[in-house]
Amino acid sequence: MDPWNLASATPPPPPAPPRPESSDQHDIGLLIRSKVPLIVVESGEEKRVLELITTLAQKSYLPVYLWTETDGLRRIDLIGHNAREHRDPVEVLEHIHQARESAIWILADIHPHLEKPLHVRYLKDIALEHEARGDTVVLVSHQLKLPPELRRYGATISLKLPDRARIEVIIREVAREWNKSHSAPVRTDEETFRMLVNNLTGLTEPEVRRMARTAIFNDGAITPNDLPQVMQAKYRLLSSEGVLSFEYDTARFADMGGLTRLKAWLEQRGPFFHGQAQVEGIDPPKGVLLLGVQGSGKSLAAKAVAGSWAVPLLRLDFGALYNKYHGETERNLREALRTAEAMAPCVLWIDEIEKGLSVSEEDSGTSRRVLGTLLTWMAERTTSIFLVATANDIERLPAELIRKGRFDEIFFIDLPNEAIRRDIFSIHLQKRRLDPTLFDLRALAETSRGFSGAEIEQAIVSGLYAAHADGRNPVLADLLEELARTKPLSVVMEEKVAYLRAWAAERTVAAD
Ligand SMILES: Nc1ncnc2c1ncn2[C@@H]1O[C@H](COP(=O)(O)OP(=O)(O)OP(=O)(O)O)[C@@H](O)[C@H]1O
Ligand SMILES: [Mg+2]
Repeated sequence: MDPWNLASATPPPPPAPPRPESSDQHDIGLLIRSKVPLIVVESGEEKRVLELITTLAQKSYLPVYLWTETDGLRRIDLIGHNAREHRDPVEVLEHIHQARESAIWILADIHPHLEKPLHVRYLKDIALEHEARGDTVVLVSHQLKLPPELRRYGATISLKLPDRARIEVIIREVAREWNKSHSAPVRTDEETFRMLVNNLTGLTEPEVRRMARTAIFNDGAITPNDLPQVMQAKYRLLSSEGVLSFEYDTARFADMGGLTRLKAWLEQRGPFFHGQAQVEGIDPPKGVLLLGVQGSGKSLAAKAVAGSWAVPLLRLDFGALYNKYHGETERNLREALRTAEAMAPCVLWIDEIEKGLSVSEEDSGTSRRVLGTLLTWMAERTTSIFLVATANDIERLPAELIRKGRFDEIFFIDLPNEAIRRDIFSIHLQKRRLDPTLFDLRALAETSRGFSGAEIEQAIVSGLYAAHADGRNPVLADLLEELARTKPLSVVMEEKVAYLRAWAAERTVAAD
């Protein structure tokens, strides 16, 4: 696609039209007008919240006071009111309680103080008297849960995040900033620009602006190279305590030997996932479950989906999910899923899903509830997240998970046949800068009957070490020797593999 010029493609801004009331403003306004005594605004954008409320208050001629623990209470809708009083929470609550004027009282970051019964009682007193007095207390924090005593007097809203159109506007503003200071246009192409907009959804306005600067200010261009950096920075902003990890290492379909049906299946669906193709009656793909023996390339396939579709890969660690505190496990899962949603479009990879979901007697139903949470999310989610779950122990897979309709498809990855083994040798030799034509691939493929992809790779690695120890380049004999030395898992665990195959034949689609 032709590069286009972001700065020149941007028409000069028209004289600022009166900004239409945003839906956030509308929502907060509605709560104030309907006389909800306590309004909780959960947001990381305190400045914007204050602006919204001050604008609203002007319409209704109410004074606006802001309290913070650092600056105390001061009026913010008029200039020149700098009195810093009542820093102590009790003092400010007492002041509001006794005040004779109606006003909007904003308490910023009061959430740690809601642990004290006295503070809670004050707020309740204020709420109870509110009807007579007509004022509103707004609690602004990044996160705030009203104590049970106050819940019936309060309503909580979270600010809406900027939509695609707004994100585009912000990026263009940043481009103009760069343009002004460097007298040069910001270069990009439509596809990369679209991807950047995609990648910045789920963030607040200041965050979008910061990331747009990250992408533009290094070289005055938005290029595909900026995207991974933006995604990593975004992930750090959102990251949820170790349960979800950002996988830097992805792969391409070309790194996988075999799995031709799986690749074709994914290739057909890529455009629908990205929303480039939209056909009535075709839903975007939602996810696959990959079953197979150890080392058959399940994890590799998950990485290749993300790499080939050029979206971030997030790995959900079911082990880290389980927390000793009762009830935290599902909360952890919900939080991780919310983070993934904010990173969409992305691939969410749940490796060895059976380990986190197998239902045992001891855990008093936790894994059952985790399964329920996951299934509900899978059924209801609307964002473009492609789920790749892998498993190799079918005995431990809950039946609900493999029921028709949960995943788009369940693929079984069998041990590679001779032709595929040849490809795998070729791929891994090339990866190590060895010329595959110098090796008799047919002999290697024949000798490695029953080997998994991982075992083939291991044999190559060991062969390289052996040759290196002798101070020479690796040759065919090194690899054949390693193969002869290895007892593949399919032999060691013959019965288990046979059982898995028989089980899969009835319930899954072959990946090859
Ligand atoms: N089909 C394949 N093509 C190319 N390389 C492969 C293939 N299968 C496995 N490998 C190699 O083996 C490595 C290990 O495989 P991978 O971790 O994907 O297997 P797995 O099925 O996830 O195994 P496990 O059940 O132990 O988690 C891969 O990183 C890759 O280098
Ligand atoms: Mg794996």
